[in-house]
Amino acid sequence: MLKGKHIILGITGGIAAYKCATLTRLLVKAGAEVQVIMTPNAKQFIQPLTLSTLSGKPVISEFFTANTGQWNSHVDLGLWADALIIAPATASTIGKMANGVADNMLVTTYLSAKAPVFVAPAMDLDMMRHPSTVRNIELLRSYGNHIIEPTAGELASHLIGKGRMEEPENIVKAIDDYFAISQDLQGKRVLITAGPTVEKVDPVRYISNFSSGKMGFALAEECASRGAQVTLVTGPVSLKTEYPGIDRIDVTTAIEMHDAVMKALPDNDAVILCAAVADYRVENVADKKIKREKDVAPVIRLAPNPDIARAVGQNKRDDQVTVGFALETDNEQVNAQGKLERKNLNFIVMNSLRDKNAGFQVDTNKVTIITDKGETIEGDCKSKRDVARDIVDVLHNYLAQK
Ligand code: C5P
Repeated sequence: MLKGKHIILGITGGIAAYKCATLTRLLVKAGAEVQVIMTPNAKQFIQPLTLSTLSGKPVISEFFTANTGQWNSHVDLGLWADALIIAPATASTIGKMANGVADNMLVTTYLSAKAPVFVAPAMDLDMMRHPSTVRNIELLRSYGNHIIEPTAGELASHLIGKGRMEEPENIVKAIDDYFAISQDLQGKRVLITAGPTVEKVDPVRYISNFSSGKMGFALAEECASRGAQVTLVTGPVSLKTEYPGIDRIDVTTAIEMHDAVMKALPDNDAVILCAAVADYRVENVADKKIKREKDVAPVIRLAPNPDIARAVGQNKRDDQVTVGFALETDNEQVNAQGKLERKNLNFIVMNSLRDKNAGFQVDTNKVTIITDKGETIEGDCKSKRDVARDIVDVLHNYLAQK
């Protein structure tokens, strides 16, 4: 997949820079044209001569080439690239990328690039765990950048932990895989619901649930990164998405979510119902704050909310694919199967609150997919983004058959 691809390899000042000789060699061997850009500190760890010899192109490091006075155009480089790899990415460069601090040639080129960006962090375990690093990496993800997670093991400091740059072979594989599946949803439109809904009790109180929206947002980003045009209808969540290709509609209540989904339904090829919709809303919403009274407990009367998945199932065309979720605490398989049929879904993604590291708020999930063809696909515990990839792979197969 890398044959003829223009790759910018951005190297920053970390000890793992020594592995970039192998990384450059592997990219060139796979047929890519490689332009290396180094930050000034990276040159302390590996000689530019090594990389220019392996890539067959002079390494760029400064805005101006000292001996010729030639200006290196970050804009041209950004447009030339089919992919950017930042490896190793230090905490400093990640912070600059996340916040647009364009004080060197590499970050300036990053800001100009339209191509997919792969970031392979490498640093000491405590730097990796620092809230600023964690937040900056999350920001990069929200820009649509692909994080190639560091592995755990012995670090240059001799401490043991997470922070080793992924091996060059696996970095090349991640990029190769990206190009292999990259645009398989091109031209498709996917509607996704995410997060909880919030149902008012009075002007200051509400009924809701613990859904963070993370799974729905991961699905939206996965679909968009594969070329789909995504409409993301989300309940109130603290997540951001600046990802290109995602049109976000914010709603609060189940009724608002239902209306937004039904309006968008005809224009979409697939619908993924990932939101944790409140099954009931308050019928007698108080227009003033309910006061505490000593011996009287207020009565909150509930009315059923619309089942959005069911409404979609009843109104969908034959060429539309629908996917539901089932979060269960018990009797998982039977309950999920029932929902698959009742809601007329093509497949359902089941997870159980009995599984550790699955479900609400956490960054990982473990799911089983049950299809209307009678298949059961069991997954391992993975990051929500990796789970999203597995789900979208199944969705892609359904869409390909329509
Ligand atoms: O019935 P239950 O809520 O467990 O079903 C879960 C599936 O149905 C999820 O896909 C969820 O997004 C969807 N759902 C919905 N509208 C509701 C309730 C659930 O779309 N009111």
